[in-house]
Amino acid sequence: MARFLVTGGAGYVGSHLVRALVARGDEVVVLDSLRQGHRGAIPAGVELVHAELADRRRVAEVFAAWKFEAVFHFAALSLVGESMREPLRYCVENTANSLSLADAAVQAGVRKFVFSSTAALFGMPKVVPIAEDADLAPASAYGESKLMVEKGLFWADQVHGLRSACLRYFNAAGADAAGGIGEDHDPETHLIPLCIGAALGTRPALTVFGTDYATPDGTCIRDYVHVSDLASAHLAVLPLLEERSLRYNLGNGAGYSVKQVIDSVERIGGRPVPHSFGPRRAGDPAVLVAASDALRRETGWQPRFPALDDIVRTAWAWHEAHPRGYGDR
Ligand code: UFG
Repeated sequence: MARFLVTGGAGYVGSHLVRALVARGDEVVVLDSLRQGHRGAIPAGVELVHAELADRRRVAEVFAAWKFEAVFHFAALSLVGESMREPLRYCVENTANSLSLADAAVQAGVRKFVFSSTAALFGMPKVVPIAEDADLAPASAYGESKLMVEKGLFWADQVHGLRSACLRYFNAAGADAAGGIGEDHDPETHLIPLCIGAALGTRPALTVFGTDYATPDGTCIRDYVHVSDLASAHLAVLPLLEERSLRYNLGNGAGYSVKQVIDSVERIGGRPVPHSFGPRRAGDPAVLVAASDALRRETGWQPRFPALDDIVRTAWAWHEAHPRGYGDR
């Protein structure tokens, strides 16, 4: 048994890792501002420190109060569009706060740091599937804010020996198959919850952003990876951090178009997804699919939910049972 700090542990991806850690018998401390996260996502027995990452004194107190085997750092802003309206806010909240957290970890003698990075590092990729060593060229302030953290972590390893795993998530989707936790963003901008909400009648009809992409059906293709599989990848990288720092793409390696997602939701839910076709959304690459062979080969990680229908089934179950999400807004 070990003790871990999970920032953003009340959020969508973080809460699924917290579940996985608790299931292994580990002790977890969550640090979350609850601006996006939900108290209801945190299981009994897990300590919640309700604080802002920017509150350096509070963060230092957390490291003084507990000794951690590793830090899992999820807490972040994550909207590409918002980052293009408020780029400096992304630099402060994502880059500066993440690096000051890493600094606090170093000061406290923590040796391992797992960071939620993003496919947005690759911008508009020239080659897909996107290789682990593809050019890094973020097309948004969001992507840049995460890339700057990866660069800071590189030097923290070189100078202080802080081993880090930067996991570049593709499209997180689905919900814990055991129920109880799932996706609840405000605003919600992600395709799968918007499709399900439209089908359930809890959200307006979906607008498909663009039908003139150079893809077989003209709509964008994404690599949807189940959120519990994202969580298990965080556990899979831990042993390797004894040796070295890591950078991995974290996706399924299979791409599905927006139309295929709509079809899947209709198949699983047994109801139509009301939708119309609109113009492209600025900044959307046509295809984002990961080559995540390195992660599989080096850690043995395997997704439990590689099929889109299985991902959608878990998401549908969550939204059907929790039409207002955690109901705390
Ligand atoms: N889409 C629609 N209609 C909608 C919402 C989305 O057609 O109402 C389309 C998008 O255009 C895109 C696909 O559905 O083609 C998926 O969109 P999401 O917003 O669900 O996800 P993104 O691929 O835009 O974003 C994800 C992560 C980001 C990350 C980005 C990397 O959520 O955090 O991948 O580019 F930065």
